[in-house]
Amino acid sequence: MARTHQTSDWQTYKMHYREPHHAVEPLEKEIAVVDAALAELHEAGILPHTGYDAARFLAHRKAVAEKFEIPWTAITPRMQRLLYAINAITQPQNMIAAGVFCGNTFISNAGAGVGPGACYTAKQLIGVEIKPDEAERAERNVRRIDPTGVARVVAADAIDVCRDFPEPIHLLYLDADGTPELGKGIYLTILQAALDKMPPGALVLAHNSVNCAERLSRYLAFVRDPENMRESVNVIFDGEGLEVSVR
Ligand SMILES: C[S@@+](CC[C@H](N)C(=O)[O-])C[C@H]1O[C@@H](n2cnc3c(N)ncnc32)[C@H](O)[C@@H]1O
Repeated sequence: MARTHQTSDWQTYKMHYREPHHAVEPLEKEIAVVDAALAELHEAGILPHTGYDAARFLAHRKAVAEKFEIPWTAITPRMQRLLYAINAITQPQNMIAAGVFCGNTFISNAGAGVGPGACYTAKQLIGVEIKPDEAERAERNVRRIDPTGVARVVAADAIDVCRDFPEPIHLLYLDADGTPELGKGIYLTILQAALDKMPPGALVLAHNSVNCAERLSRYLAFVRDPENMRESVNVIFDGEGLEVSVR
C-alpha cells in the first residue's frame, strides 16, 4: 500500500536555487530529518537498513561544492543527503539518472559509488541529458570528481537509453522534464522503457513528487498500484518531494 512520509516543516524549509551550498538548517536537524525518512523507507520494506557513512557523505558534499559548476539546482541539502544515503544503502551496480541538467542530481546518486564519498564498487552509473551543451557541462563536472569513468554523462534521450540498456537496471532516478506539452509526465514513459530490465528489489526515485504532482498523476498512480510496484513512499520534507518505489 502506498505511503506518505511528511515533515511538519516541509513548506517552510527553503533553499535558494542559486546558492545550493548555503546551510539551510543545523546539520543535526538535517541528519534527523533524513534519518526519519530512511526509517520509514526501511519500515515499508524498501530499504534493507538505514545505515550510511555520514563522514563520507560530507566528503562527497565538499567535493561537489568545490568542483562542480552549478548554475542552479532544486536539490535541497536534505534531498542531496537522502539520494546519497539511498544509493549508499542499496549499492546499485547499474544506475541510470534521467534528465541530469548540470549533473548535481546525478552525482547526488552516483557519489555513493565514485569520488571521495564512495562506499562501494559500482559497474555503470549513467547520467542522461538530452541537451548536448548541458550534458557536456555535467560530464565535465563529473570528471572532476571521478577520474575512473564508472560515472559518466551521455547526451541522449533517456527513453532510448533505458530501452536499449543491455544489463539490469538496479536504480532509476527520474528528473527529466520532457517537452513543454508533456513536462514531467515523461517519467512514466521512461520507467516503462526500463521496467523489463529492473529486477525485484530495484528502486525508482522520482523527483518533484510534490510540486509536479499534477503532471505526474499518471506516473504516481502507476507506481502506487501494487500490480506494478511492490511498495511506494512519497517522501515530503521539502517543496519538491521524492517518490521512492520498489519493484
Ligand atoms: C529541470 S532539469 C532537472 C534539474 C534538477 N532537478 C536539479 O535541480 O538540478 C531537467 C532536465 O531534463 C532534461 N531532459 C528533458 N527531457 C529529457 C529526456 N527525454 N532525456 C534526457 N534528458 C531530458 C532537460 O534538458 C533538463 O536539463
